[in-house]
Amino acid sequence: MIGNDIVDLALALKESNWKRKGYLAKIFTKLEQLLIIKSENPDNMVWNLWSRKEAAYKIFNRNTEVKIYNPIQFKCYDTYKSIGKVMNNGVVYYTKTEINLDYIHTVSVLNITDFESIKLLNRTNEIIKIEGIPYLKVANNKEMNPISISNHGRFEKIVSLF
Ligand SMILES: CC(C)(COP(=O)(O)OP(=O)(O)OC[C@H]1O[C@@H](n2cnc3c(N)ncnc32)[C@H](O)[C@@H]1OP(=O)(O)O)[C@@H](O)C(=O)NCCC(=O)NCCS
Repeated sequence: MIGNDIVDLALALKESNWKRKGYLAKIFTKLEQLLIIKSENPDNMVWNLWSRKEAAYKIFNRNTEVKIYNPIQFKCYDTYKSIGKVMNNGVVYYTKTEINLDYIHTVSVLNITDFESIKLLNRTNEIIKIEGIPYLKVANNKEMNPISISNHGRFEKIVSLF
């Protein structure tokens, strides 16, 4: 299973004021808030953690069909390692996050070995959506592979497992 999330840093800076009163405490655990406050680049740390939570949430939502808004319950760990973790209700979602000057992109998987099988797709692939959740048609349209799409500002990433 796979999920991803991308944040356009220029757009996030323009549109979102995470410094407003109460925002951090609503979204982030105490540990995550410390990471943000102590970071050399608090803006990036906010979006770094957010993209991890969203990527994991996409797997959670797909697996459980539960739609919730409860970011604080998706807890980020091992954020300084190349493979991080998001935990929710005892389930571990593994994460890999790419950070550059333009965007922050997280891919999340349930099985850590799936990181070896990640494929980037584009819109020319045959994508269908079932109740808003995207799949790729494969094997002469007889099978559907779960994929994850994320758009924000100037960027879009579509990922699947092959
Ligand atoms: C559904 C949700 C995850 C989409 O994220 P977003 O940042 O608004 O938008 P993204 O571009 O990253 O993702 C949108 C795509 O996700 C896809 N998507 C929706 N639900 C999905 C799921 N469960 N699994 C995989 N993909 C999903 C849609 O196909 C959509 O593609 P489209 O733009 O081609 O229509 C988000 O709107 C949401 O509901 N978040 C609230 C949940 C929450 O609490 N999040 C905080 C972290 S836990």
